[in-house]
Amino acid sequence: MIITVTLNPAMDKTMVIDGIEIGEVNRADSIRNDIGGKGINVSKVLKSFGTDTLATGFLGGMIEEPFRKELNRMGIKDQFISIQGNTRTNIKLVDRKNETNTDINEPGPLISGGEIEKFIGFYKETVKKGDIVVLAGGLPPNISQDLYGRLTRMAKDKGALVVIDAEGEPLKHALVELPDMIKPNEKELASYLGKAVLTEEEIVQAARSLVEKGIQKVLVSRGEKGSIFATERSVFMGIGLEVEVKSTVGAGDSMVAALVFAEKEKLSDSETLALAQATGAAAVATEGTEACTREDVERYLADAREKIKEVR
Ligand SMILES: Nc1ncnc2c1ncn2[C@@H]1O[C@H](COP(=O)(O)OP(=O)(O)OP(=O)(O)O)[C@@H](O)[C@H]1O
Ligand SMILES: [Mg+2]
Repeated sequence: MIITVTLNPAMDKTMVIDGIEIGEVNRADSIRNDIGGKGINVSKVLKSFGTDTLATGFLGGMIEEPFRKELNRMGIKDQFISIQGNTRTNIKLVDRKNETNTDINEPGPLISGGEIEKFIGFYKETVKKGDIVVLAGGLPPNISQDLYGRLTRMAKDKGALVVIDAEGEPLKHALVELPDMIKPNEKELASYLGKAVLTEEEIVQAARSLVEKGIQKVLVSRGEKGSIFATERSVFMGIGLEVEVKSTVGAGDSMVAALVFAEKEKLSDSETLALAQATGAAAVATEGTEACTREDVERYLADAREKIKEVR
């Protein structure tokens, strides 16, 4: 089974407004609500690839029920732990007139000690040999920064593969436990290395050294510049595809889904990168928080294959 973990999910509320005026009453032309959070985004894209996932984490409050309904409707197995606190709503203001996107994100609910224990109990019982566990996104405000590290170790002890998409302290703690796959963007990788920016060469070097330490697959995404993929066998560079950018929300998460799918299908390293790049491109060419479809991805695959070269 593929298990995605989203500890601080959110209902993403997107409002389209024609010219926001701060301090005034504004009227939204359209509204949409999407369930979100990095792990859930990964589940959505995998579903569109025809792959089932089990999604877990914490859900509570007024939007717990509509959230669960939506997971159900999408065919994502819902194993979220019910909590006392309120799952957050993140607001995205799309201003068509000024062509701006403004996000207002809530911190998320506090999780009690008992709720964490319940989650860990479920996790230990559920994760089995051969599973792929995706730990993605930030942690709720009061959760210990080493939780991804602990969850990585627990899953590895069971013989499951672990994929991390996180940043800052949670990423640092997770890397100590040597997850099997990671997908930092270049900023997250630079920050991990204590640098402001990284050159292409420095990214290749850093990815290689993480692989040498024991992380089997390191995929570094670089926005429009593309991505770099290092494994024990090779390092490949993917040049960014030219696409009409509709929304970059969830492009990285879509890439994580591609990485997981490629692992499950045992694709070669260059095919894995081609699929990841095509999926990233399809995601940015898709409006809002909607997941890209398999047909979208197929459309970019040939171009993605041509834009891959091996780094010697
Ligand atoms: N402007 C763009 N043009 C073309 N491709 C893009 C663009 N932005 C992103 N991509 C594709 O999506 C991939 C992931 O994007 P990015 O590096 O921004 O991930 P991220 O920062 O982890 O995103 P997030 O966490 O917000 O989902 C890139 O490697 C690239 O293939
Ligand atoms: Mg990301």
